[in-house]
Parts: sequence; C-alpha cells; structure tokens
Amino acid sequence: ESARDLAGRHVVVSAGGTREAIDPVRFIGNRSSGLQGYALARTAVARGARVTVVAANVALPDPAGARVVPVGSAEEMRTAVLEAAGDADAVVMAAAVADFRPAAYRGSKIKKTPDGEPEPIALVKNPDILAEIGEHRRPGQVIVGFAAETDDVLANGRAKLARKRSDLLVVNQVGERLGFGTPDNAAVVLGADGSRTDVPRGAKEELADTVWDLVAARLKPRS
Ligand code: PMT
Repeated sequence: ESARDLAGRHVVVSAGGTREAIDPVRFIGNRSSGLQGYALARTAVARGARVTVVAANVALPDPAGARVVPVGSAEEMRTAVLEAAGDADAVVMAAAVADFRPAAYRGSKIKKTPDGEPEPIALVKNPDILAEIGEHRRPGQVIVGFAAETDDVLANGRAKLARKRSDLLVVNQVGERLGFGTPDNAAVVLGADGSRTDVPRGAKEELADTVWDLVAARLKPRS
C-alpha cells in the first residue's frame, strides 16, 4: 500500500443496512452498523481518493472528507449508487441490502386481527444493485462485492462472484460475534482472476486497506 495511491480517483462505497418499510412504524432490516463501509471510506480518503458513501441507516459520525448520501431502502440505495457510479473508478458494495421487500406498503399501522393471529406479509424481490453495476460497468471500472455467509463460505463466495460479475468478492463469515456491528472482521477476498487473499481477524480498517490494495492493483494507469 502506497500512501496516496488513490489520488485523483473517485470511489463509491455503500455502507449500512437497508430498511424495507412494512407500515409507518415497522420495517424489515438487518444488523449492519456501517462500520465496515465507513472504514473503507476513511481509508480511501487517507489514500487520496474522492469518496462517495451511500449510507443506509448508519448511526455513526460521517467519515471526514467523504461525501455521504443517506438512504433508507434498497430502491433508494440503487438510485444513489447508480448515480454516483457514473464517473467512479471503483464501486465497493459493503452494505447489507435486503433481498426482499414487502409487496405492498401499508399506509396505516397494521392492527392485530380480531382472532389475534398474524397476517402474512407478502414479499417481492429487490433489485440486485451489485449485479446491475457489474452488467453496466464502464471499461476499467473495478467492482467489489461483499458476501456475508454463515455456511460453505468459499463455495458460496465463488458462485456469488461469478453471478454478480464482480472483480473482487470479500467473503466474511458472519455470526459467532464476527462481522455485523463488531470493530473487527476476518475475510477471504476472492478475485475473478482466480486469486485468493486471506485477511486474518483484525480491525475493519485493516481489511479495508487490503481491499484498496487489491483495487489499486486493478485500476488502469491514467493517461
Ligand atoms: O456494517 P457492519 O456492522 O460493519 O457489518 C459489515 C457487513 C457484515 C455488513 C459487511 O462486511 C458485509 O458482509 N456486507 C455485505 C452483506 C450482504 O448483504 O451480503 P449478501 O451476500 O447478501 O450480498 C452480496 C453482495 O451483493 C453485497 O455486496 C451486497 O451489497 C450486494 N447486494 C445484495 C442484495 C441486493 N439486492 N443488492 C446488492 O447489491
């Protein structure tokens, strides 16, 4: 890692977890705190990049020197990420995006049914932002996904890397007090070129710096 190796580059990082509204008081969400995404943003700023962070429901101080675009749902994240990705040299999707959302938003609070039984909530698929970016990538743009896996971490990671057409996939095993909400993380970073980089448990900044090392090595020299 050389100090200002991202100078003159624009990088987009997504952070946090989307919330999919059920009614005015309830949502479907996840445990992402935004710590990993914000560590990526801070380290990219330190390496000289112009940084846009698309932040879903993150309750952390803004990373100094980065532009933060706050969003709520996966649809909002999609709009903000696609817009910021337009001139980006690299896009890193560290956010936990809900795969599904309620099929219909209920304008008033859902009441208990008279018999006290719950009503089922129908779900529909959310857009896959990472796959969409992978499909519409500009030449030279480096795309990085994250994968939160609990089982068969590597096999699932390889399959996901291919499906999402990313250059790199950061596979972190979540659960067992690791991943969501913790200050540290451990991961295996898989490359579309077949490479594999093991990052032992350490501060989220350390994993972030390894990700930027791998991104920087894949950026085309500027003419
Ligand atoms: O925020 P922290 O508390 O620090 O926790 C960090 C983290 C565990 C959330 C992070 O390290 C992480 O693993 N983020 C990705 C979590 C996730 O949603 O993984 P996934 O396997 O469901 O998704 C795979 C990839 O596709 C991700 O890059 C995700 O951003 C992207 N995706 C997923 C669904 C969708 N509809 N659109 C997407 O772009």
